[in-house]
Amino acid sequence: MTDRELDLKTEIPHSARIYDYLLGGKDNFPADRAAATNIVKDWPSLPTGMRANRRFMARMAHRLAAEHGIRQFLDIGTGLPTSPNLHEVVQAVAPEARIVYVDNDPIVLVHARALLTSTAEGRTGYLDADFRDPEAILESEQLRGDLDLDRPVALSLIAILHFIVDDAEVRRIIDRLMEPLAPGSILALSTTTFDNNPEVVAAGVAAYNAHGIPTVARTRTVVETFFDGLEILDPGVVAVHRWHPDQESSKLDDSQITIHGGIALKH
Ligand SMILES: C[S@@+](CC[C@H](N)C(=O)[O-])C[C@H]1O[C@@H](n2cnc3c(N)ncnc32)[C@H](O)[C@@H]1O
Repeated sequence: MTDRELDLKTEIPHSARIYDYLLGGKDNFPADRAAATNIVKDWPSLPTGMRANRRFMARMAHRLAAEHGIRQFLDIGTGLPTSPNLHEVVQAVAPEARIVYVDNDPIVLVHARALLTSTAEGRTGYLDADFRDPEAILESEQLRGDLDLDRPVALSLIAILHFIVDDAEVRRIIDRLMEPLAPGSILALSTTTFDNNPEVVAAGVAAYNAHGIPTVARTRTVVETFFDGLEILDPGVVAVHRWHPDQESSKLDDSQITIHGGIALKH
């Protein structure tokens, strides 16, 4: 299938491709690069924050596999493949682990099918679906075929929630997705916050919106409400470089990291 048949809308900037460009990837187009350049003028620390977020994802996935024994992951808002990908981290610990990736961007779909290949013992599935339609995700053959909902699943929502501007909608979707998951399941998320650098984040979020990408930043208090009904695990909801930091992330300055993350357990 050609890019034209897929209708990648390459003339319109897209969040997945802006993110890819700012992470140093190749899967982006002139409109994405122009938007990214503009946004970074207002939000110079954004690429640093994005890299810190990627490392948070890897530490979170490793910890869930190695210390919590999680063997099933539902990752929504996967993004373009960027090494290491979640299944690589998890399957390095547990080759039999199963991952279902979900995104609604056609270019992510093409690259994910090509690159997100599983170990022989495990499985990686890819679902083209919208986070805002949790029923479609839960009822999909992909999810029902690859994941056993009677056993714990980690629902991972990494750097996607800031594209859903309504807090109540986020809470409704998370509740719906967590509802059928077994006790012992985990919610892991990261999302943009105002707390560390309010003026810069406000300007950066305005730039995203001006480029036609609805985006919102939240306070830590609001982010914590996304975990209502679950037990937030140590160290709570924190700037992602402070979540079980590695050597690299400990060197970062708080004002550069405007994305908070955390994980919580379903009892
Ligand atoms: C900033 S990227 C994050 C990628 C990856 N999770 C990470 O943190 O490195 C956000 C991703 O969410 C996807 N996305 C945005 N809105 C979505 C929606 N409503 N449903 C599914 N995916 C969505 C975009 O296509 C993009 O791939």
